[in-house]
Amino acid sequence: MTLYAFKPALVFAGLAWVAAQAMAADGAQSAIDFGCLNCHGAQAHTVPTFRSMADKAARRGDPAKAQQHWLDEMHEKNFVHTHAMVSDDAANAVLQWVAQGMK
Ligand code: HEC
Repeated sequence: MTLYAFKPALVFAGLAWVAAQAMAADGAQSAIDFGCLNCHGAQAHTVPTFRSMADKAARRGDPAKAQQHWLDEMHEKNFVHTHAMVSDDAANAVLQWVAQGMK
């Protein structure tokens, strides 16, 4: 009986986990698909690499705040065609992946 009551919660937790994993994979894939990594990849010299941004966010310990700040930066730096082109949802998929350490 009690087990029954817990089941939906477990199923929900499981689904949330799956969604989080899919989101992470989406972020990494989107970063490639949108060409973000052409400019923010490991070879970047004049723009911050996603790795350096992830490290900075980890040091500051507030990924949600970092993610919001980055989205604002992208709006501000809309002279970059890709920044101006992607939707906030698409950008956030990438930025969340970066904020969570690119895992
Ligand atoms: C054509 C090259 C190019 C592409 C493609 C590009 N960016 Fe950028 N990005 C830049 C430049 C240039 C800056 C500004 C660097 C500066 O002024 O400090 C920047 C800045 C940023 C910043 C602010 C970084 C910070 O620490 O303040 C974020 C966040 C960002 N880009 C995310 C993205 C995402 C997400 C994508 C893919 C959807 C993307 N960029 C694609 C060139 C690019």
